[in-house]
Amino acid sequence: MKDIISKKVESMQPSGIRAFFDLVLGMKDVISLGVGEPDFVTPWQIREAGIYSLEEGFTSYTSNKGLYKLRLSINRYLKNRYGLEYSPDEEMLITVGVSEAYDLVLRSIINPHDKVLIPIPSYVSYGPLTELAGGIPVYIDTENDAFKLTPKVLEKHIDAKTKALILNYPTNPTGVSYTKKELSEINKVALKHKLLCITDEIYGDLTYDFEHTPFPTFAGARDNTVYLNGFSKSYAMTGWRVGFACGPKEIIAAMTKIHQYTIMCVSITSQMAACEALETGRKSVEEMKREYKRRREFITDGLCKLGFGCAKPQGAFYAFPSIKNTGLDAMEFAKRLLKEQKVAVVPGTAFGEQYKDYIRISYASSFDNLKEALIRIGNFLKTKQGRKQ
Ligand SMILES: Cc1ncc(COP(=O)(O)O)c(C=O)c1O
Repeated sequence: MKDIISKKVESMQPSGIRAFFDLVLGMKDVISLGVGEPDFVTPWQIREAGIYSLEEGFTSYTSNKGLYKLRLSINRYLKNRYGLEYSPDEEMLITVGVSEAYDLVLRSIINPHDKVLIPIPSYVSYGPLTELAGGIPVYIDTENDAFKLTPKVLEKHIDAKTKALILNYPTNPTGVSYTKKELSEINKVALKHKLLCITDEIYGDLTYDFEHTPFPTFAGARDNTVYLNGFSKSYAMTGWRVGFACGPKEIIAAMTKIHQYTIMCVSITSQMAACEALETGRKSVEEMKREYKRRREFITDGLCKLGFGCAKPQGAFYAFPSIKNTGLDAMEFAKRLLKEQKVAVVPGTAFGEQYKDYIRISYASSFDNLKEALIRIGNFLKTKQGRKQ
């Protein structure tokens, strides 16, 4: 077989997180602060709703758009919580996690060589999926602005071929989020240049210091935004694979066309469980959030005491400390920490090749694990700090 793989796919780099975690596989007694998923299991009543739906014999396909009951529940949730309204019939699609949703948006809107702005460091999928859809990712480095996109920097990166902006907040990997005022200023620039905003708000419920504000709530933004959210993080439902997209009906219709040919629909069991999550899961979300917040204080204080520069994350469950004063680059730091102290963290370079002075630490791990990890990182620094091998 010759030239069997498409050039586009061949040139795609595998996820830096995966590449690093291949090293972890097979190692014993590793404390992993690497994976971006809750250490909690899905709250019991949500699991039970899934089990019960199977017992009741709900084993069929659903509407391509997703269970009507789930779309209604999402509509109610967004309306009650944020005053946001989307038609369950025309402006909403249930997807296989947020992962499917942004793939669908990108494939729905991109014509060859359209540009998509991606503030970095960012979640690993946006760039490769933009390229796969035929677009050009334009990465905007935010390091000098405390990892936040500013209106001024945004404006500088826009040209005639710029079609969309992907904004993820709270942000993976930095934990940074945006205040109402900051978002409002970004919205003004987006409106001025008629940019479509694709907002990945999957960590919205895990915002600690101020209220999360969905992007489409800003003046004029609703018609220019595809709002993405899902159940993976806030309800600890990563394995169920349920997300949703809300946006202008022509974009949702285009996304639904691709979705109906590739996926047909999300598993009915998972959709039933997601309905239960929205109906009764709020208390569990608040409990998990309280625990993440407690861990955030602990891990950021601990990292600062060890001498890392570490801003307090405002949301999600990640810290992105600078390791600059260790004299090691991110990959070397992560590999040696893993080998010598059995703690797995993700090198910052997984989120943009220039972030070699950072690591990502996920604090979605038990308090005991975090305590032990800090001790081990401390030991690592004592023996190795500043000594390149
Ligand atoms: C910012 C962000 N978006 C999307 C996802 C994927 O979410 P889902 O499980 O809903 O596909 C992740 C997972 O880590 C993420 O960090």
